[in-house]
Amino acid sequence: MDIQKVGVIGAGQMGNGIAHVLALAGYDILLNDISQDALDKGKTLIAKNLERQVSRDKISAADMDAALDRISTTLKLPDLGATDLVIEAATERETVKTAIFEDLQPHLQSHTILTSNTSSISITRLASRTDRPEKFMGFHFMNPVPVMQLVELIRGIATDEETFKSCLAVVEKLGKTAATAEDFPAFIVNRILMPMINEAIYTLYEGVGSVRSIDTSMKLGANHPMGPLELADFIGLDTCLAIMNVLHDGLADTKYRPCPLLTKYVEAGWLGRKTDRGFYDYRGDEPVPTR
Ligand SMILES: NC(=O)c1ccc[n+]([C@@H]2O[C@H](COP(=O)([O-])OP(=O)(O)OC[C@H]3O[C@@H](n4cnc5c(N)ncnc54)[C@H](O)[C@@H]3O)[C@@H](O)[C@H]2O)c1
Repeated sequence: MDIQKVGVIGAGQMGNGIAHVLALAGYDILLNDISQDALDKGKTLIAKNLERQVSRDKISAADMDAALDRISTTLKLPDLGATDLVIEAATERETVKTAIFEDLQPHLQSHTILTSNTSSISITRLASRTDRPEKFMGFHFMNPVPVMQLVELIRGIATDEETFKSCLAVVEKLGKTAATAEDFPAFIVNRILMPMINEAIYTLYEGVGSVRSIDTSMKLGANHPMGPLELADFIGLDTCLAIMNVLHDGLADTKYRPCPLLTKYVEAGWLGRKTDRGFYDYRGDEPVPTR
């Protein structure tokens, strides 16, 4: 299927990155959020990130201008009715996502493919609440989207081959690499990554190491480019907790229980970089560990 117009729902850290790479690849983007502030911030961040690519000679100024011209924003979900593909990247909460799909589907054309960028929620279950489970799948970008090469493509039990091939063609047009994952909790990347981050938080909780010693150990001892606590702040601690809960509920194994310290940070509203405080405090010139 020929995809030209793409609706992106949620203008947060993932939604704005997805709009950025798709617009650069030539798609017309309609970016939606419930908050005008999120839309304004999202568009400003896209412009800033495109400018950085121009200054590094990765793209031309003309590419940047053309990409920005291809992105429109809207607070009205029904406006996305005119799109060929929808990528939902709203908050990682199942009730939020199902409400979005319910509100959106009466306005959609019959050929429109619906996808979710969820990090962990069952694609089959999300699909079953829509009018088009065969045209529904997981389209999972990595953060930061303009930098990360991988996209996980997740088929629900009913996803048809044409839908899968259309999404694969989009990934190829973006110049990214697709990995196909089966629809089980947290798919591949987060099934492996999140228990590692959760274990790092247990290591902190049990006093085995400080924030700095844990991050330094994994950077210099395991050659990870970022420490697990730094990475958790980058992903968002609310998102990390949501993914651990999905693993715990979906696989019913106590090895996936979220660390109580992770829950405490989320309850405090210390969600990482997006709120300026998590395992590090980002309000000064340099990040300072909070434990
Ligand atoms: N953060 C990551 O590293 C990462 C990586 C891959 C996938 N994801 C997934 O991407 C999705 C978004 O995550 P994020 O990190 O961008 O979150 P975020 O908190 O930065 O942004 C979420 C955005 O969704 C908007 N939103 C909430 N309800 C909405 C609604 N009903 N309609 C439209 N917009 C709505 C919010 O206003 C906010 O701007 C989640 O499903 C998450 O699991 C996140």
